Formats: sequence, structure tokens, C-alpha cells
Amino acid sequence: MQEQIVRIGLAGLGTVGGGLAEILRNNAEWIQKRIGKRIQIAKVLVRDLDKDRDVPPPPEAELTNSIEGLVRDPDLDIVVELIGGEEAAYRLISMALEEGKSVVTANKALLAEHGPELFQLAAERGAGLAFEASVAGGVPIVKTLKDSLAGNRIKSLTGILNGTDNYILSEMTSRGISFQEALEKAQELGYAEADPSLDVDGYDAAHKLTVLIRLASGKDYPYAELPVHGIRGIEAYDIDWAKAFGYQIKLIAQVKDRSGSLQAGVFPALIPEEDMLAKVDGPFNAVLLEGDAVGPIMLYGQGAGDLPTGSAVLSDIMDLAGSCSGASNSGFVNSAMERADILPAELTVCRHYFRFTVQDRPGVLSVLSGIMGEHNISIAQVVQKQEQNGEAVPVVFLTHAAQLKDVHNALAEIDKLSFIKARTRHHRIL
Ligand code: NAP
Ligand code: HSE
Repeated sequence: MQEQIVRIGLAGLGTVGGGLAEILRNNAEWIQKRIGKRIQIAKVLVRDLDKDRDVPPPPEAELTNSIEGLVRDPDLDIVVELIGGEEAAYRLISMALEEGKSVVTANKALLAEHGPELFQLAAERGAGLAFEASVAGGVPIVKTLKDSLAGNRIKSLTGILNGTDNYILSEMTSRGISFQEALEKAQELGYAEADPSLDVDGYDAAHKLTVLIRLASGKDYPYAELPVHGIRGIEAYDIDWAKAFGYQIKLIAQVKDRSGSLQAGVFPALIPEEDMLAKVDGPFNAVLLEGDAVGPIMLYGQGAGDLPTGSAVLSDIMDLAGSCSGASNSGFVNSAMERADILPAELTVCRHYFRFTVQDRPGVLSVLSGIMGEHNISIAQVVQKQEQNGEAVPVVFLTHAAQLKDVHNALAEIDKLSFIKARTRHHRIL
């Protein structure tokens, strides 16, 4: 019998493209056993044709720097977009779908901004658009939501979705190194985005959350409307205080279904040490889901890096190579998604952590707790640390559940007081 070959046009031979090429080389026989076809990288698109590469293109592959040259090649069966960014990737993917070619992408930024229109285009052209690697690297969260939990209504989803940020926070917590040092290490290890502000300012996690909200709710929550706070403002001080109270600080991406309206956001939060999410360290990612039938489920694994992410890309390629059907790219029969009913983040009710920097003088604590009380915020714990030098001292409050709106109003009042010596640090407690 003649060998069946699936020809891949691979756009991008960087961290993820290189990882994919390596897995395809190492596991070629195994893959063929699974799908009965050989997957061949037939053409590779890069920016710089002369670059020395750690992972060279496969010997049989043609190298090009022309997007059209890749996408319009009639001998290619599937296009794999791993160039990142938005403009060129958008052009490449829409052109491939227009041609009726199925596409695999890891590009969460593009999907967050343009997902609905690309799914629409794929549906019109009967092409596949697969994106397992776009969220949580090697963790199979997309297929879990699309397939394994397809019959569940998802009541809540809480994720650690950015490996770089989790690595930075873990290194700051366990080794006491600075934010900058930890970020540089994350970049060296290939976890960070080309523009690391996407990671540290929370936008990468927000891109991934936008993709997951669609899969979990069947609604489109526009990325631009998602409240996003990153980890740039977190200081060693807060990490130490959180530890002293029995918490770990993590960057959390969360959506909750509140009677059909969605409350979502990306924010740093204190997680009780005994919770499973608090134990997710280094570049690892995790997603904790609550389905109405299945109950709680947690997925955990490597959220970034060449082989874990390449593994997710390959699973999509193998699915498409097996079926090449574009019927359910988005996970829903109707690919035109209704807009979500969005609940303002200000209505979120949770516990809170505050670190005030105050002048150490009589009456300060009573003023602070008075303002809190006026804003319906009930205090659970207070600690003041005596400093030997200098007149400013940190005072940490942990509160009972209070509404975010009340917290912001109280903080606006407190930060104007003359005895407050630095901007108050505030984080949610999960
Ligand atoms: P990368 O290491 O920067 O590699 C990008 C590759 O694309 C390079 O080979 C580059 O060519 C090529 N390229 C970029 N722009 C191009 C253009 N306009 N035309 C032709 N070629 C172009 O990126 P990466 O880390 O592999 O990330 C790729 C995608 O995967 C991104 O969407 C990223 O968000 C996503 N992702 C990454 C990870 C991760 O762990 N890194 C995890 C999950 C998802 P040259 O080599 O010639 O410069
Ligand atoms: N920069 C991303 C992260 C890569 O650190 O999680 C994986 O999407």
C-alpha cells in the first residue's frame, strides 16, 4: 500500500516551531502508528533565510521568507502558524483559510483579538482552525473544554496561565531574587514573549483567558473589556507578608458564571498555601474548572517552552490529518458567537490584602479601620511591623469578603491621608 503523507507548511522555526520539528523527528514512527500517515514538514517560512539555527529545518523542507509562497503552495495540506505577532500572522492565517487550507496556530494574541472572524471564515471555507497550543502550552485545556467536558456548563474557571509570571513569582518567593533577575532568566529559558511586557503586565494571560471564556461559555467576551492587572507592582515585601500569613501570590486569570452573566479578569491574588493552585510553581500552568456535572477538575503541566508547546501543536496537526473537518473549530455548531453579558469587575466580592505604609503615630490604625468600616469592609487580621529606622512602617490588613467597588473607594480616601507615606498595595485573596 502506498504511504500516505500529510504535507505541512510550517510558518516559524523559533522556540515552538523548533520544538515541533524535533518531536516530529523523534516520534515519526509512533505518530505514523497512531494516524496511519506520515507527517512531513515540506516548507518552512522564516524571516531570515541565512540564520544559524539550533534546530535546523528538516533536510527535505524548502525554506522561504514569502508568506504567499507558503500559503498558496498547492502541495501543502495544513498550514501551521508559529510566527507570533498580529499583522503578518493575521494575513497568513486568513489567506490560508481563504484557500480552504486548515490552520493550526499557537497565537493567543491573534485569537483574542480576531478569533470570532477567523472562526467564521474557517466555517465558510470548510477549513479547520485548531489552537490547542494557544493556551497553557502543553496542557490540553482546549480539547478538555471542547471534547471531554463538552456536555458540562462551566460555572468557574481559575487559571495560572502565564508561565513567565509564575516563574518570576516562584523565584522571587523561593530564592528571594529580584523581579528583573527572574525576568531575565525566564527570557533566557524561552518562556517569555518577544515583548515581555505582554507577560508581566498580564496581557498574555488575558489573551488566553479570552480564548478560554469562549470555549467555556460559548459567548464572546471582548478582550478589550477584560480588566487586567499584571505583576509589575509586586514587591518582595508583599511576597514575604503573604508568606507570613500562609499565602502565595499568583497571577490569576478567572471567569465565573453568575446566573448567565460573566465576571472575569486577570489579577494577582493571594492563594492559601494549602490550595492546589498555590503549589503550581515555576513555568508550570494550571487550570481549575468547576463543571455542573463533573464538579471540580484541575489540569496541570508545562505552560511554555519548545517541546511542551510543540506537543500541543502536534496534537492539532494529528487531529486535522485524521479528519480535516472544520465543522467545530470553536467548539460550537454556530460559529457566530453572541456577545457575553458582562458583570462589572467592581461588583466582585472576595477577601482582600492591603499593605499600608504609614507614619507611626497614635490614632493611625483607628482612622484606617474607621474608613474601612464606613465602606462596609470588615477587618479579619492586622499586623504592624516595627521598623528600627525611619518613620514609615508597614501595616498589613487582611479583610473578610468585601466588594471591590467599596475597596477602591476606601483606598481613594486612604491614599490621600497625610500619614500615608507610599501608595497602598492591594491584592485580592482567593
Ligand atoms: P519565536 O521563537 O520568536 O519564533 C518566531 C519564528 O517566526 C522565527 O523563526 C521567525 O523567523 C519567524 N517569523 C517571525 N515573524 C515572521 C514574519 N513576518 N515572516 C516570516 N517569519 C517570521 O516565537 P515562539 O516563541 O516560537 O512563538 C511562536 C508563537 O507561539 C507565538 O504566537 C507565541 O505567542 C506562541 N507560543 C509560544 C510559546 C513559547 O513557549 N515560546 C508557548 C505557547 C505559545 P527567524 O527565525 O528568521 O527570525
Ligand atoms: N510567554 C508565555 C508564558 C508563553 O510565559 O506563558 C506561553 O504562552
